Amino acid sequence: MSPGAVLLVLVPAFCLLLSGNCLPASLRGHGDTILGQEIFKGVTNFSTFQLDRSSGMLFLGARDAILAIDTNNLNQQPKKIVWEVPEEKRNSCLGKGKTEEDCRNYIRLLEFIEDGRLYVCGTYAFDPQCAFLEPSSFTLEQNEDRGVKMETGKGKCPFEPSQHYTAVMADGLLYTAATSNFLGTQFDISRATGPEQERIRTEQSINWLSDPKFVSSAFIKQPEDNNPTGDDDNIYFFFTETAKEYDLYTKVKVPRVARVCKSDVGGMKTLQRRWTTFLKAQLVCEDKPSGQRFNILTDVFTTQHIPGDPSSTHFYGLFTSQWEPEDVSAVCVFSLSDISKVMDGPFKELKKPYENWINPEPVPTPRPGQCLNNALKTEGIESSLKLPDKVLTFVRDHPLMENSVTAAPLLVRKGIRYTKLAVNLKGSAEEQQAALLQLGTDRGELHQVAVVGQNATLLQEIPLFASQEPVNYIILHQGGALVSSPLSVARVQTQGCDLYPSCEVCARARGLGCVWSAGNETCLSTQANPGPGDIVDNALKMCQTYESRCHPSTMALKVSMGLRILLPCVQLSPRPCSWEYPPHRHTRQHNSDLEVTVAEDSLGKYVCTCQEGGPNVRDPTPCRRAAYHLMLEEPSVGGWARSKEGRHVLAVYILFFFMGLLLGAGLFYFVNQRKQNALQKPNSSQLSEKERELLSSTSTPQFPSSSSLLSCGFRMTEKRNGTTSTTTTTTLLSNHGNGGQHGNSFSGTNNSNGLYSNCKTSSSELKLSSEKLAANRAGVGESGQGDEIDKGLGDGLGEVLDINETEYKNLSRSQAPLAKCEESSI
Ligand SMILES: *[C@@H]1O[C@H](CO)[C@@H](O)[C@H](O)[C@H]1NC(C)=O
Ligand SMILES: *[C@@H]1O[C@H](CO)[C@@H](O)[C@H](O)[C@H]1NC(C)=O
Ligand SMILES: *[C@@H]1O[C@H](CO)[C@@H](O)[C@H](O)[C@H]1NC(C)=O
Repeated sequence: MSPGAVLLVLVPAFCLLLSGNCLPASLRGHGDTILGQEIFKGVTNFSTFQLDRSSGMLFLGARDAILAIDTNNLNQQPKKIVWEVPEEKRNSCLGKGKTEEDCRNYIRLLEFIEDGRLYVCGTYAFDPQCAFLEPSSFTLEQNEDRGVKMETGKGKCPFEPSQHYTAVMADGLLYTAATSNFLGTQFDISRATGPEQERIRTEQSINWLSDPKFVSSAFIKQPEDNNPTGDDDNIYFFFTETAKEYDLYTKVKVPRVARVCKSDVGGMKTLQRRWTTFLKAQLVCEDKPSGQRFNILTDVFTTQHIPGDPSSTHFYGLFTSQWEPEDVSAVCVFSLSDISKVMDGPFKELKKPYENWINPEPVPTPRPGQCLNNALKTEGIESSLKLPDKVLTFVRDHPLMENSVTAAPLLVRKGIRYTKLAVNLKGSAEEQQAALLQLGTDRGELHQVAVVGQNATLLQEIPLFASQEPVNYIILHQGGALVSSPLSVARVQTQGCDLYPSCEVCARARGLGCVWSAGNETCLSTQANPGPGDIVDNALKMCQTYESRCHPSTMALKVSMGLRILLPCVQLSPRPCSWEYPPHRHTRQHNSDLEVTVAEDSLGKYVCTCQEGGPNVRDPTPCRRAAYHLMLEEPSVGGWARSKEGRHVLAVYILFFFMGLLLGAGLFYFVNQRKQNALQKPNSSQLSEKERELLSSTSTPQFPSSSSLLSCGFRMTEKRNGTTSTTTTTTLLSNHGNGGQHGNSFSGTNNSNGLYSNCKTSSSELKLSSEKLAANRAGVGESGQGDEIDKGLGDGLGEVLDINETEYKNLSRSQAPLAKCEESSI
């Protein structure tokens, strides 16, 4: 083979496992829209989003600009306000040693205030400033000399554009968690606006906050008409910090939740202008059977399981792990009542780490950290200023609770880094509640996972943006999701069974009330109760192809030297899968899939085994999920030889799929051949901007060809607003694990990223798909050097081979300074 000849063979296990009939592209995404840089005309670095739900206007905080997009009419040009830093200001920022890039005005806060205006704060060249935006006219308020009317943003907005930061509005006052000095070495959770003497914050103590990365915040308001005990409203903050309580050499990170009470105004002598109610607890997201802990919090979505009932609030946390060398993501759910229990429990003794178990300090009354309520008020404590000193010193020294808030993951995925999540709930509170998770990845994708009871099932994976654009915001709105990256915004339909285009995807959405109608080949919504047992599995059995999950037949693969192949293995349980293979150095695991570069010593048997059984199950059972036998192909078959001359572009796709009940196997093999010139003529006219960029930046690979092979199975490619995006549909079975009796069995999910569809489309559709595939393939580097190929494929085919490149940019939010309190008009 010529050095450039690289062949990628993808074996679509999904079709194998579940179906021969994957889905035509046109059925999905009818309402989806993606707005990219051609719309935003150079405005970039979106990091803040605020949706006016009544008008449907989406406000975007960007670099030196605020945009407004009408979500009812996405095709309209967005409105724009430019808010830049004046030249001399920028120069003085540069003079302080900051970069050109950082000495701009990054809008980091957009919050509605009570009069309907938006409070807007930007980093303003390391001197945060705030302004008022009138939404109806979409203008910033001006002062007499027609400049933007500004007030200081210190304590409200970070100095630095990319620091972790979170802010929440609670009854007209702004609460923030941010860094509080220019250097970014001090951290504060504070009430950042309101009367000067009530702007209080955290004590500067590593017991309170120890190098925290703030993630999210939530305001939990008591129901006004149903609050007999007169409980105070709370503000919750979520962050990851360095554990103080473990005395280890490595810095152990711990995810935390902290609570403060809205009416807290600080202490009189002790804890003056500091929270008297600051309590924090550790969050534990742990897969008990494997002992794997996910200790870094990346995002939290807050939702009420019973609308209108704040006590039903649940926090869906997105986690990753400090200890995993690879990307890994987990979702754990914590209820407000569990957090409250821990906050009402014992305090952790932090003062004397070696003695804490001997003689814990007695807890004074009234209970330290307790919010004001009617009972305290009748005792004469109507304000935190009246709290006794011994209560305040106790709370100052004991901010951490002894117990942790624990949960088992609903979902664990290896090889994937989720950056954001949002959750739609289905069904009433009394009925079994189903949830639809929308998960954004660091590579511009949106994944949808159905969670019914404790069982999670992956529905689909939708690439929205270029792979270097992490999803940094998801807002649910009107049956859809507004998803954004620093450069783009998309609206994706997320609700409705008609989004699920095949029997298998529809079956996986059974818990969301969807059912496949074989008669008219659509996924319909139904009120019918799915009945007892594993509902996804039952629904899947109604689909034509269903193979026993743990007894796959061994698939023989003919390969040639130097070939790179991806062997898929679908993870169905929350615990990861492992591979057994001949001892050699030519593999890399991506998610649960294995990439093999064929060499002499890599031939032989490959078996993927996953541990089944949900969390809290002691002895997970191993389930063989996939088995392959790699053997050498006869040399010089058809296109192989020709590929030496090497100017033609060939795309090779193989789809194997099994039919029949147990071992009936059908194998389809697809090889598509294209000459380079053929590619440039008809195809380039269909190529989107992105693909053209790809073409120009990389050159053409050589793929062998064989016109005799059957074509079947690809990613679905569709055109959306001029951007070709690829919709993948993944297939997951629910867990047959043995943990059901605890009500804790989870059907975890995993899959490879390259997914394929369609053995059922008409030949013309098929052709179109394969042409696009060929076009995408053209982006693969000619040199055949691994990295370039990875890149090309990453873009063209959706990160099939491009996992290691993931540098996780934590774009979620950044941090702010809380300097001394300064004037604020809100
Ligand atoms: C702003 O966006 C540019 C282009 O995407 C990126 O290179 C840069 O790092 C971003 N800056 C910040 C502070 O996020
Ligand atoms: C599809 O199925 C639904 C429900 O069974 C039925 O009401 C409808 O008429 C069917 N549509 C077609 C085109 O067959
Ligand atoms: C969840 O999975 C378990 C084990 O597979 C099964 O017994 C249970 O019925 C499932 N629950 C639902 C609601 O599908």
